Amino acid sequence: MLDIRRKIMVAVDGSAVSDKAVYEAVWLAGNQRSNLKNELIAVFVKTDRMRDYDDLFVRGIPAGEIDDRWEKIIENAFFVVRKLAAEKDIVLETIVVEGEPASTIVGLAHNHDVDLLVIGSTGKGAVKRAFLGSVSAEVIEHAGCGVYVVRA
Ligand SMILES: Nc1ncnc2c1ncn2[C@@H]1O[C@H](COP(=O)(O)OP(=O)(O)O)[C@@H](O)[C@H]1O
Ligand SMILES: [Mg+2]
Repeated sequence: MLDIRRKIMVAVDGSAVSDKAVYEAVWLAGNQRSNLKNELIAVFVKTDRMRDYDDLFVRGIPAGEIDDRWEKIIENAFFVVRKLAAEKDIVLETIVVEGEPASTIVGLAHNHDVDLLVIGSTGKGAVKRAFLGSVSAEVIEHAGCGVYVVRA
């Protein structure tokens, strides 16, 4: 029988636009038969582009506290997806990996055999008025699956 379950991956960076992407991804994943659950995977890539997180990483924080900061950033990035997925009874997996965001997201989507990747058009570290951020542009170009770009 035709398998109509879908595996949807959403990339979160803790920005308002990525929250919008989460909202759409949860809506898509929620369109399921109760006995055939779609799967939702949320991924956060730890990048060394600290300027993306300048609002939290004030200069000169002691090295020992950097891990704590990351904990908070990651917790915050997954907050909305955890809440919405729980409300809609959607199976959610969260993944945190270190690396270069775009290629890591593309690689994870491939390895997890996802049907659709949902991302925001811009995110943290937005160059104002840019149509697409560098991560979204790269993901669109290189992803092996469909990409749903949620506009700011
Ligand atoms: N480090 C990251 N981890 C996971 N997803 C990310 C990351 N950075 C960006 N994204 C995804 O890509 C989208 C676009 O962000 P990006 O291209 O980085 O724009 P900007 O240049 O404005 O920061 C975000 O809304 C999010 O969905
Ligand atoms: Mg960014």
